[in-house]
Amino acid sequence: MSLYSIAAVFVLAGAATAKVSTNITVPVSVSAAVDIFDIAPIISNADATAFIQNLTRQGNNLTTAAFVEAENISGMYNISTQFCMPSSDPPEHPTLQILTHEVGFDRTYWDLAYDGFNYSYIDVATDEQKYLTLSYDSLGIGNSTHGDPVNEIQADKVIHVGHSFGSVQTYGLPDAFHTLSDGIVLTGFSLNSSFMPLFLIGGNFVQANLNQPFRFGSILPSSGSTTEEVAAAFRKPLDHAKVEDILAEYDLIDYVAGLEDPEERVAYADGYITNSNTGANQFLFFGPSGRYDPGIVIYAEETKQAIAPGEFLTLGGSSSASAFAGPVLVLTGSNDLPFCGGDCYATGNPKLPSIPAAVVEAFPKVPTGDFAAIIQPETGHGINLHYNATGAYNVIGDFLAAKGLASTYAKVPRWSCTECKISQESV
Ligand SMILES: *[C@@H]1O[C@H](CO)[C@@H](O)[C@H](O)[C@H]1NC(C)=O
Ligand SMILES: *[C@@H]1O[C@H](CO)[C@@H](O)[C@H](O)[C@H]1NC(C)=O
Ligand SMILES: *[C@@H]1O[C@H](CO)[C@@H](O)[C@H](O)[C@H]1NC(C)=O
Ligand SMILES: *[C@@H]1O[C@H](CO)[C@@H](O)[C@H](O)[C@H]1NC(C)=O
Ligand SMILES: *[C@@H]1O[C@H](CO)[C@@H](O)[C@H](O)[C@H]1NC(C)=O
Ligand SMILES: *[C@@H]1O[C@H](CO)[C@@H](O)[C@H](O)[C@H]1NC(C)=O
Ligand SMILES: *[C@@H]1O[C@H](CO)[C@@H](O)[C@H](O)[C@H]1NC(C)=O
Ligand SMILES: *[C@@H]1O[C@H](CO)[C@@H](O)[C@H](O)[C@H]1NC(C)=O
Ligand SMILES: *[C@@H]1O[C@H](CO)[C@@H](O)[C@H](O)[C@H]1NC(C)=O
Repeated sequence: MSLYSIAAVFVLAGAATAKVSTNITVPVSVSAAVDIFDIAPIISNADATAFIQNLTRQGNNLTTAAFVEAENISGMYNISTQFCMPSSDPPEHPTLQILTHEVGFDRTYWDLAYDGFNYSYIDVATDEQKYLTLSYDSLGIGNSTHGDPVNEIQADKVIHVGHSFGSVQTYGLPDAFHTLSDGIVLTGFSLNSSFMPLFLIGGNFVQANLNQPFRFGSILPSSGSTTEEVAAAFRKPLDHAKVEDILAEYDLIDYVAGLEDPEERVAYADGYITNSNTGANQFLFFGPSGRYDPGIVIYAEETKQAIAPGEFLTLGGSSSASAFAGPVLVLTGSNDLPFCGGDCYATGNPKLPSIPAAVVEAFPKVPTGDFAAIIQPETGHGINLHYNATGAYNVIGDFLAAKGLASTYAKVPRWSCTECKISQESV
């Protein structure tokens, strides 16, 4: 099945914003080698803290200490995907970007609804830069069960774009599938693991389904319950804006997340963890004050996803990308916490301009000039959540275009199938 015939089916499901977008759950058959770890069950907040203590104890490598054996697993898994294309001027030879999100998020990181989709990476990549995009919920997150939808689709060129732990996975991909990727973009990334404990500790990780009991599952109110009804039950006068302020101030925003909108609920079993509150979210993902909307921190906290502890254990497990020879862009916020310790320029080495610049050593086959490490100014780890996110998107678009990876147009468009016309008319 060609990409456009998939797209034509998608379009009938409707367009959410300017881009032509739809969601589809893709069942995939997965066979994978996984590591089995002997880790005490994490069923309380105290267990979550003990796990992070074990993970961050100096001189202790929990990945090695808890390793039991490698095992081959296989099965059918559902991948929840969002496929998007430009709403006008569809390119004759499209380039597809496969977007992999960070732990603690889902694929909506690439298409934030906040502020009228003003922060959407996908809006810029499709409508302005004319790419196709495929974003997906990974590894048991959001509406997916597991997996990688890579083999399901075809396009002229494929670019893999990751953020943070998604970049770690993307970095590990090319050696296994290096013929599959024409270019890679690693955002919120470096190869220096010295600062990861700051992230692990700063998150004050707790049991996800206790932290957001309505949204993540341990309290299931009747589906019609709203904050108004709950407030009425407490017989308090209700000023909705004021209630929101109070909830945020007292860290109750997590407690009520998902209460108003049953559609937002995503149950997570015991063992999934999450950062504790809005302050932890700010510490992990945001840069200098004034460089982001304070409201988006609350939004990020309300819409966060849980994390499987196994993801922290297998961080170092990605194979090297040394066989990859295509263009590579690393783009990291100047104040990134987990990959730069809050300052990407503090290298202590006059010959190393930034911590992410050292990633070049991992790509010996990439020609000089096809590798770039860009520091996005005054930005923290969650690049897409800052006021200047589109500045970063333009850097990515310009780099890919300069390396000949943009979608291209034939002189005579061959865009003629009936379904495709429907798609153009539907927007
Ligand atoms: C697709 O999923 C996103 C969230 O993941 C949601 O906001 C959007 O409404 C969905 N679109 C459709 C067409 O269902
Ligand atoms: C932490 O490590 C100790 C000692 O290795 C172990 O007994 C305990 O089960 C671990 N707890 C967690 C939650 O990983
Ligand atoms: C997993 O499968 C690979 C190849 O199919 C095989 O070489 C390896 O020994 C298997 N590993 C285990 C633990 O069964
Ligand atoms: C995948 O989704 C389908 C339809 O929603 C469902 O019937 C099936 O059980 C799901 N499979 C898995 C592995 O979750
Ligand atoms: C998006 O941001 C720009 C400036 O950054 C602002 O002018 C515009 O009103 C915003 N749009 C929405 C939908 O909020
Ligand atoms: C999961 O599916 C539900 C219902 O289809 C939808 O409302 C929700 O936005 C989806 N969540 C994600 C993270 O895609
Ligand atoms: C722990 O050991 C694993 C291999 O067992 C390695 O990949 C990882 O980098 C190590 N972690 C640290 C922090 O040294
Ligand atoms: C990580 O960065 C710090 C600060 O620049 C530096 O001191 C340290 O040597 C780096 N570690 C590695 C493994 O490159
Ligand atoms: C926004 O980002 C772009 C691209 O990195 C950069 O050139 C520009 O200086 C940034 N603007 C501000 C105000 O930081």
